[in-house]
Amino acid sequence: MNIFLVGYMGSGKSTIGKQLSAILDFNFLDFDNLIEEKEDAIISTIFKNKGEVYFRKQEYKYLLELFKYDNHVVSLGGGTPCYGHNMEQIKAQDNVVTVYLKAKIPTLVDRLILEKEKRPLISHIDDRASLTEFVGKHLFERSKFYLKSDLVIDVDDLSPEKVVNQ
Ligand code: S3P
Repeated sequence: MNIFLVGYMGSGKSTIGKQLSAILDFNFLDFDNLIEEKEDAIISTIFKNKGEVYFRKQEYKYLLELFKYDNHVVSLGGGTPCYGHNMEQIKAQDNVVTVYLKAKIPTLVDRLILEKEKRPLISHIDDRASLTEFVGKHLFERSKFYLKSDLVIDVDDLSPEKVVNQ
């Protein structure tokens, strides 16, 4: 079986995924890293040189490859469940449990403001108010996909250890 961690950018998918996989003795896979390896380019370069539509096509292609894995904790990209029929296809896998790491807008903004450079969707946003507005609207559009997950964890007030335990 596999656990797919779902959630907005900055929700802690990679941090939690690493710790959870160690405890379960599963393998850990960061899906963004897999895409970067396959494409031989970092995410921001893929967006810059080939555009978001190309990125989403490749993301879908590599998502299908993930379905062959076993005993993995996977941190998906923030947008992975939100395009095409990706979430339906993920949910159709008998051996995948999806977990949504649900964080409030201020929590996400606090984290993203410190590490927005590697994220092409927000790297151009300079001030906190604009980032808050962007994340608010974007999360509103995406929540319906995230909320299809098998398990939802409110992560705002929890240490990584407590999230992993849940
Ligand atoms: C994206 C999130 C990123 C990465 C890409 C697009 C998104 O992953 O896949 O920049 O659409 O939310 P993280 O959620 O790991 O930052």
